[in-house]
Amino acid sequence: MAITNIGSINIDNVYRVDDFAAPGETLLVSDYARGLGGKGANQSIALAKAGSQVFHIGAIGPDGEWTREALQEVGIHTQGIRLVQESTGHAVIQVNSAGENSILVCSGANITLTQDQCREAIMVMGDDDWLLFQNETNLTREIAEAGRAQPIKICYSAAPFIAELVLPVLPYIDLLVVNELEAASLAAHFGGQEGGIPVPALLVTRGGKGATYSVCESPGHENAGNVLSVPSFDVSVIDTTGAGDTFLGYFLSSLDTGLDAMTSLQRASAAAAIQVSRPGAADAIPTSAEVSEFLARNPTI
Ligand code: RIB
Repeated sequence: MAITNIGSINIDNVYRVDDFAAPGETLLVSDYARGLGGKGANQSIALAKAGSQVFHIGAIGPDGEWTREALQEVGIHTQGIRLVQESTGHAVIQVNSAGENSILVCSGANITLTQDQCREAIMVMGDDDWLLFQNETNLTREIAEAGRAQPIKICYSAAPFIAELVLPVLPYIDLLVVNELEAASLAAHFGGQEGGIPVPALLVTRGGKGATYSVCESPGHENAGNVLSVPSFDVSVIDTTGAGDTFLGYFLSSLDTGLDAMTSLQRASAAAAIQVSRPGAADAIPTSAEVSEFLARNPTI
């Protein structure tokens, strides 16, 4: 099956610091790098490297042609990326000595998507293909509605978490992906427990604590039933930027290619472990062969 990802494309400006800048403080950084990022682009790269056929739908400005080329280099179909007058989205990312990040995103072209562009991309999807989107573009609710009208599956990466955007989208989706903090914010709207979040399936990434995947067992859409967990691998962390995107891409691609949920979680965890041990976001995402080699060397999970 193919995966259509309507998602952001950012130019990541990454600054290495010992500690994040405090209010009023000026810091000299120890390193600077520019690379491809954006939750959408990172997830597309992870999906493609995991082996999926990926159609990326988005928008870039005249400064971002190289981002399209980077997506094409891993086999992603980019005809659905419009060139617009606005600048390509960009992010200012501090990465501290523990590899943690602090991110500012300037949306730019990412919020110029048109309804026609999204509808056309969704209309040509095949039965049972996955539609994926995040909160770094405009039109999230419209994308979800248009997707639900087709015989496809819908995965929503509800990041960055904005409750007013997320709540209206939940009734339309098949799989919700959030990190632990986002899950807690969302659960607060449904009685405080993750199991109360009303979606058919829920993937929660938990950083160094691994991830859980729960599937609804009742038609009431409460996902407290079948919960699978995977720990994270113990690796030396350089940069956690894009780790959740890598996990999502590998998990969804593995599920889509017919692997069972536990195997999909293990491949995703291995991919994220490799990714955090390298600098950058999209550039740090491993190939499927690298993930298989890592799992062969680290079979204990
Ligand atoms: O999830 C990581 C991504 O968030 C970065 O690549 C940055 O561009 C922001 O979108």
